[in-house]
Order: sequence, then C-alpha cells, then structure tokens
Amino acid sequence: MPFAPESLPRPFIIAHRGASHYAPENTLASFRLAVAQHADAVELDAKLTRDGYIVVMHDDTIDRTTGRHGAVREMDWEVLRGVNAGGKAGDAETTIPLLEDVLRAVASDVFVNIELTNYAARFDDLPYLVADLVKRLGVVDRVWVSSFNPVALRRFARRLPEVPVGFLVDPKRTWVYPVFRHFVPHAIVEPHLSLVSEQAIRHWHAQGKAVMVYTVNDADDMRRLFSWGVDGIFTDDPPLARQVWEAFRRT
Ligand code: G3P
Ligand code: MG
Repeated sequence: MPFAPESLPRPFIIAHRGASHYAPENTLASFRLAVAQHADAVELDAKLTRDGYIVVMHDDTIDRTTGRHGAVREMDWEVLRGVNAGGKAGDAETTIPLLEDVLRAVASDVFVNIELTNYAARFDDLPYLVADLVKRLGVVDRVWVSSFNPVALRRFARRLPEVPVGFLVDPKRTWVYPVFRHFVPHAIVEPHLSLVSEQAIRHWHAQGKAVMVYTVNDADDMRRLFSWGVDGIFTDDPPLARQVWEAFRRT
C-alpha cells in the first residue's frame, strides 16, 4: 500500500524515533522493535555530516545520546560510524545509523517519516540528498517527509513532488505555519500536542489536511485525540497507543 494520507488506516500510529520508550532512540534496534510492535510507521530525524552523509540523530550534537561530544555537521561519517547511541558497547544495532541503512532495513515493513532536521544549517543540501536517496532506493511510496523548516520542505517537494509532506508546527514558533503554509505544498499538518483542540482538527480537516500530532505518550491524551478524530499520533510507545485505541473503539 503506498503512503497516501487520505487512505491510511486511522488512527495512524507512528513510532517516534522508533519505539524509543523501549530502545535507544533513532537506532536500528528502535526501528526494528517498532515493526515488531506493529506500528504503522516510524519517525526519524535526518541530518548531514560535514562530508555529506545523511545520518539519523535528533540533536545537533551527539552529546546527549552517545556520551561523546561534537556537532554532527562538523564531524565526518568516518568518525561517527560505530559510535554507540545508547545501547550496549559493540552492538551494531545501536550505533548511529545512516538513513540509507534504516530505509533498507525497515521500509518494506513499515512506512518511514523522515524529518528533515537541518535546523542549524537551514539552506544545506539535505532535502535534495534525501530526495535523491529515496528515489535511488525505490522507496518513494513508503515515506513522507516532515520538518519545522519550510525551506527544506519546499526544496524537497520541488525535487520529489510525489512524496507527501508534513508541516511540523512548533508551539514556540506558531507564526511559522500561517506565514509559510502556502509556500509549502503539504498534505499533513503536524502540530505539537499543546496546540490541538477538537476545533483545530476540524479546521484543518476542512482545509483538506490530515492531522498528525506529536508527541503523545499519555493514555488520556491518546483517548482525547481519538475522540476528536485525529488522523495519526507520534508516540514513543506504540503498544500503549494500540491498546488505548482497541479499548476506545469498543466503547
Ligand atoms: O515528528 C514529530 C517530532 O519528531 C518533532 O519533534 O523534536 O521530536 O523531532 P522532535
Ligand atoms: Mg523528529
């Protein structure tokens, strides 16, 4: 089934940084676990190394998740490869992965949401390189891209218009979405949980957008969003979301 926002199973359960409640975030281990837990999709954070490799890492630096130091954009892949990102030393499943390796490992089993996280280098080549990789690997119908950076989204959409785009909305910079929403062709609005109400979902639906909300780890929040007809949630805990949905649909 291709990724088409209007015909997804609902609610769409997206494993945020993989099944990151259970395994180190943004590692092959967390993505494979999300597949085993029957998530509908995995979300990951893509950014460039100094020498132009696309790695999967949330923060601008590797400090929090690896215990080592340095900014990804100032480091080469040769240095980053093999760096453990929160698992057991020597475990190849928990090293910093390349986007290419993640797509090869899981894109046939699960949809992949690639967040373009070039927030510290907003005009770099990340969108073009991700688009070319997605095409080269033949996963055009298995992915969608998201970002808080409208420039990255627009560049990606021009390069590869057949891949759907999700526009992330930051509660600290809510002005970005209204200013740039016409500049970026997008099928999905992806607001922070704090920005969502039943009325907001109705409003976005009336504009033809699917609404996917991040990051939802609390059962009460999940229930509330399900009752409002949310299209998808990003969660660190896919089994909890599945369980809450199963209970909710029986009520
Ligand atoms: O896609 C939702 C979420 O990933 C956006 O926030 O900071 O976790 O990448 P962040
Ligand atoms: Mg993210």
